[in-house]
Amino acid sequence: MENQSYHNLVVGGAAAATLASIEISPNLRGRSFIRDTDFSPAELLDLMETSKRLKEIRKLGRPHTYLRGKTLGLLFQHPSTRTRTAFQVGMEQLGGQAVFLGIQDLQLKRGETLQDTARIMSGYLDAIGVRIESQVDLDEFARGASVPVYNGLTSERHPIEALGDVFTLRERFGELKGLTFAYLGDGNNVCHSLMLSMAAVGVNLRVASPAGYQPDPGIVDIAKRLAAASGATIVMTEDPHEAVSGVDAVYTDVHQSMGEDAQLAKLTALAPYRVTRGVMAEAAPHAVFMHCLPMRRGLEVEPEVADGPQSIIFDQAENRLHVHKAILLHTMI
Ligand code: CP
Ligand code: NVA
Repeated sequence: MENQSYHNLVVGGAAAATLASIEISPNLRGRSFIRDTDFSPAELLDLMETSKRLKEIRKLGRPHTYLRGKTLGLLFQHPSTRTRTAFQVGMEQLGGQAVFLGIQDLQLKRGETLQDTARIMSGYLDAIGVRIESQVDLDEFARGASVPVYNGLTSERHPIEALGDVFTLRERFGELKGLTFAYLGDGNNVCHSLMLSMAAVGVNLRVASPAGYQPDPGIVDIAKRLAAASGATIVMTEDPHEAVSGVDAVYTDVHQSMGEDAQLAKLTALAPYRVTRGVMAEAAPHAVFMHCLPMRRGLEVEPEVADGPQSIIFDQAENRLHVHKAILLHTMI
């Protein structure tokens, strides 16, 4: 210790870090993200560009506190690891703060209405992220709010997840148009949002699910219209082998979502849609495996696939942070 020299660090003043400068479009200012189609394909691409810039800035360790003084509320009915943390940490990295509000702790539990709650919270908060079972309830909440509201998952949709996943695919492959993406399993909230977001930006889709557990026909119709506009194709099938043949990405989600009771009939019907090493071998050799997480290793995916070299599940999870930050920035600035 005797020879150790101590140098003082200069902090503040001329040595104070300046904010990285980035240019963003003002189109999304004040807007909510309740449905995947609330943002146009061009706006989704714009958000992905900002996500990329924010990811670079964070990796360089440069301050980017563009939302100083702003507060995000997080109103959650269901558990969450990624969505909650990405919103909370993202807001704080952007210089603002986030307040977590478990629905069980609010007067909603005693019958205060969703619209009144939203109106009151709009007086305190600059934006609100909501995870709630029913899309109808989310719509009602949003009607009462006068600040941006973000869908942090309903039983019908998970738009921020899908945008993060499109971003991850773009990061991996560079160009989205011309890619083919297969979803195997439950035609659930994540499947709906993936269909809408992938179709919007021109990714070809193949969805394989068993009868009774297929995506909502109304959402499939909207996805088909988006695909027609972007030049993508959509194949709906019950055959998982037809769906994965030669594709660039294979995606699955849990066979039992939050808010659902365990159903043996459903688990049995979905078992042939499990992503195994055999299934991945039918995809292109460069294909990636994707999952929104949390996963049940051994149920919808073999552990060897989830933890294997083709898996990009942890990139997806990390990218949620960068995409959440882009949405917060564009809508709250
Ligand atoms: N994928 C996802 O939304 O994860 P959480 O439920 O942990 O937020
Ligand atoms: N389909 C799953 C997604 C979790 C992120 C669920 O709703 O529980």
